[in-house]
Amino acid sequence: MTAIEDPVQIANLVVVEDLVKEFPVRAGGLFRRATLTAVNHISLTVARGETIGLVGESGSGKSTVANIVAGLLPRTSGKVVVNGVDFSTLRARQLREERRHVQVVFQDPYTSLAPTSTVESSVMEPLQAHNVGSKVERRARVDELLIKAQLDPAYKSRFPSEMSGGQRQRVGIARALALEPQLLVLDEPVSALDVSTKAEIINLLADLKDDLGLSYLFISHDLSTLRVLADRVAVMYLGEIVEQGSSDAIYDAPKHPYTKALLGSVPVPDPVVQRNRERIVLEGDIPSPLAVPSGCSFHTRCPEAMPRCSVDKPEATVVDGTTVACHLFPPSAT
Ligand SMILES: Nc1ncnc2c1ncn2[C@@H]1O[C@H](COP(=O)(O)OP(=O)(O)OP(=O)(O)O)[C@@H](O)[C@H]1O
Ligand SMILES: [Mg+2]
Repeated sequence: MTAIEDPVQIANLVVVEDLVKEFPVRAGGLFRRATLTAVNHISLTVARGETIGLVGESGSGKSTVANIVAGLLPRTSGKVVVNGVDFSTLRARQLREERRHVQVVFQDPYTSLAPTSTVESSVMEPLQAHNVGSKVERRARVDELLIKAQLDPAYKSRFPSEMSGGQRQRVGIARALALEPQLLVLDEPVSALDVSTKAEIINLLADLKDDLGLSYLFISHDLSTLRVLADRVAVMYLGEIVEQGSSDAIYDAPKHPYTKALLGSVPVPDPVVQRNRERIVLEGDIPSPLAVPSGCSFHTRCPEAMPRCSVDKPEATVVDGTTVACHLFPPSAT
């Protein structure tokens, strides 16, 4: 492991540079192979104490990015440095140690919590795996963690099936906090919850972030969920980041037609703004990542597509502090 002296990497907890992830897949016939590019040359950073929202439709590559950042999936190429360490350079034991700093909260705690384990053993499991404290200390720590996740420690003896979705997600969060991580990767943590429970969990995450000085990589397929927490937002389409900027810029002055379309489905509290908002409704499904459209990959669904969009791939350019890849914003216009 080499010490990293690059200032970008010291200021940031996570640095992702030119990341690519390809999956070999079967294409039609039994022996026909193809390569699916789930993540296509993306770059992003998460500063210490910052929340980055990663948004896009199903299949855009969000979970693949999440799993690579969490060290759960190897990358194909590019660089991912977390807390100054490139996971791909580590041996298994070092990787296990370093991965402690990053924990993942999944959409459905049913898949992350063993159905036959009590709440206590689920939350205690990471502590045991890393040999943290004595048995008595671990028990006390589980209570502390449940209280942090605003769940009554009396729930300790329950099984996942004996709790509500919101309570299960609190257990998932308590478990994720057990090893005192610096970064939580939140992969659609509230997508399966009803509106009021969703708000409760978002508030809990906001409180935890302030109390514990955490950073979040918060993944969601809808922008409204990210509004409260995200300092910056990256918008993904077919494995690429098409727009990335501060929350204020993304919500109040979106540039990419895809971002505008995603926002079109988010109601704005101010009725005047809502009435005047340019409404773009996306038609059709996201194309297959095995047949990515030529030029700008969004051109087949873009209401503002021009002839060149099907031919030339737009370069990312910075407009008013926002990075956008769209021919409506050619590099010369900046
Ligand atoms: N292990 C795998 N093998 C082959 N293809 C995969 C694998 N994992 C993901 N993919 C493909 O990569 C693309 C991105 O998947 P990913 O799960 O990252 O998307 P996502 O944005 O998280 O979607 P969702 O909102 O549905 O969770 C999809 O086309 C998916 O089918
Ligand atoms: Mg996903």
